[in-house]
Amino acid sequence: MTRWNDGADRVSAVSPDITDETNALPAKYFTDPDVWEMEKEKVFSRYWVYAGHENCIPEAGDYFTRTVGDKQVIVARDEDGDVRAFYNVCAHRGSKMVDDTPMTDPGNMGRIQCPYHLWTYDLDGDLRSTPRSFEETGLNPDLDDSDVSGLDPDENGLMAVNTDSIGPLVFLNFADDPPLSLAEQAGKLKSRLESLPLEEYQHARRYVSEVECNWKTFGGNYSECDHCEANHQDWITGIQLDESELEVNDYHWVLHYTHEEDVEDGLRIHDEHEAQFHYFWPNFTVNMYGTADGYGTYIIDPIDEERFQLIADYYFAAPELSEDEEEFVHTSRQLQEEDFELVERQYEGLQSGALAQGQLGPNEHTLHRFHRLAQEAYNA
Ligand code: FES
Ligand SMILES: [Fe+2]
Repeated sequence: MTRWNDGADRVSAVSPDITDETNALPAKYFTDPDVWEMEKEKVFSRYWVYAGHENCIPEAGDYFTRTVGDKQVIVARDEDGDVRAFYNVCAHRGSKMVDDTPMTDPGNMGRIQCPYHLWTYDLDGDLRSTPRSFEETGLNPDLDDSDVSGLDPDENGLMAVNTDSIGPLVFLNFADDPPLSLAEQAGKLKSRLESLPLEEYQHARRYVSEVECNWKTFGGNYSECDHCEANHQDWITGIQLDESELEVNDYHWVLHYTHEEDVEDGLRIHDEHEAQFHYFWPNFTVNMYGTADGYGTYIIDPIDEERFQLIADYYFAAPELSEDEEEFVHTSRQLQEEDFELVERQYEGLQSGALAQGQLGPNEHTLHRFHRLAQEAYNA
C-alpha cells in the first residue's frame, strides 16, 4: 500500500517495508544524506563497480583516473600488459598524485610520480625512488648517513585496488576481501558479454551530464519502459513495446525490446530485431541496440544524495560515425535529456516529504529487484 506521510515519518527500518513485491524503497533512502554516507561504504566499497574500457589504455604506461564516491583511483596498463589499479594517494604523506584524467583522454607515464616530494613508483606500485633527503642526513644534525636505512620498495608501495574484467570492461572492488567475485556478481551477464566481440569496437562518443536527483532515481527509470510511450516518442519509433520483456537475475536485469526492422549487427547476442538493455548493480548499464551496430554504456555516478553524473559512452566499429550512427547517437542523447527531466521532477516530489513510500506496479519487478539489492546492501 502506498504510504503518505501525514506529517510523520512512519517508515523505520527498511527491511520489513519492501518485502512485499509492490513496495518501493522508502523515499528517505533517496533523500537522506546519511544514506549516501552509508552507500559509500555498503554499496560502492563492497560490490564491483565499473572503472572503464581497456581499449582506451592499449600501451604500457597508459592510464586514466576514476572517482567512486570519495575514492580516486589510477587505472594503468603495466609493463606486462596487465591492467592494474591503485589509489591516487601517495604512500609518503598522502598527496593526490596525478590530475583527473578521463578515460576518453588518457595519459601516459613511465612511472607514477608524486609532485609533492617526488616519491616515484613503478607501474606495479612498488616504490622506485625517493629524493636525496630520504637517503642522506644532511639537514638533521642528530643523524649520521650510516643511520639511514633504505625504504623497502614493496612495503612502501602504492595501495592497490582489486580489478577484474568482463571482456574489455574493467571493474574495481574496494573491499579487502570482496564478498562476491566479479563472476558471481555478474552471473549470466558475464558469459553473454564475453561471447561478443566487444573489444573490436572503438570508443566513439561520450556525454557527461550532471543531474539533480539521487542516482537510484535514474537507475529505477532506466529499469522500466512504462514511461516510454508518454515521454520518448522519437526513441520508440519502430519499437514494439507490447512485445518487450523484463528478465530479472541476481545482480542484473534486462529489458528486451523488439524492433520492427533490423540492422546488420556484429553484436548479435540477441535474436534478430531485438535490443537488450542491461542494468548491472549498483550503477552500470550495457546497452545493446537493435538498430545500430554498436553498443553503449552508462555509468550512473552519485555525487551526493541529491546529484549524480551520467557518463554515456558509445562504441562503434570505427570512431568516425556514419550519418546513420550520428543520427542514432543524437536520438539516444535526446532520450537521456527527456529522462533527466522526468527523474528531476520525480525527485522534487520525493524531496517534498509527502510520500513516505512508493507503490510499484505489477510489471516493475526489475525495479523491485533494484530496491531489494539496495535494502540487502544497507542491512549487510
Ligand atoms: S606526499 Fe607524495 S612525495 Fe610527499
Ligand atoms: Fe526513459
